[in-house]
Amino acid sequence: MNENISIMRRKLKKKLSESRYEHTLSVSFTCVCLAMRYGYPLEKAEIAGLLHDCAKCHPDDSYVRRCEKHGIPLTPEEKAAPAVLHAKLGAWMAREHYGITDEEILSAIACHTTGKPGMGLLDKILYVADYIEVRRDKAENLPAMRRLAFEDIDEALFEIVKGTLDYLNKRGMTTDPMTLRTYEYLLTQKKA
Ligand SMILES: [Fe+2]
Ligand SMILES: [Fe+2]
Repeated sequence: MNENISIMRRKLKKKLSESRYEHTLSVSFTCVCLAMRYGYPLEKAEIAGLLHDCAKCHPDDSYVRRCEKHGIPLTPEEKAAPAVLHAKLGAWMAREHYGITDEEILSAIACHTTGKPGMGLLDKILYVADYIEVRRDKAENLPAMRRLAFEDIDEALFEIVKGTLDYLNKRGMTTDPMTLRTYEYLLTQKKA
């Protein structure tokens, strides 16, 4: 095994809760499977999966302060609904604490909660893997999404973003505008 990957795993195991660490490993392996399917470098996919939730070890109400402390720019909506901020903080931590300089890995970590317009292949792989990994068991559409992810990752991405928006709307929960922008972008791509 790549030595860096085993070092990362040991560090994550210490920092994350047991269930978060299990989720992290599952996402990492799912990223690798999708990378095999779509022809993306396996090790980069593995690392993106491993580190995607590396910042998810702090109380929810501390993310705004932590991001501001490290000079990570936040929108007013992000400050109002900080649940998505572990992605931005995670990209910062991946660079500063885990020595990651690969911009595709950092991008995938930074947008794994909201997506973004014009996502690259690794962005898509991580976003989809985070939803379909084997420990997930709540969403009704999981079997269909797991199949679709390996048939057409763009279609799976669209359905997962759409489903996330529907879920948040139905429960009257705050939607980060970036998720909405991602959905609108994917919709224009489908029509093109
Ligand atoms: Fe996350
Ligand atoms: Fe996650």
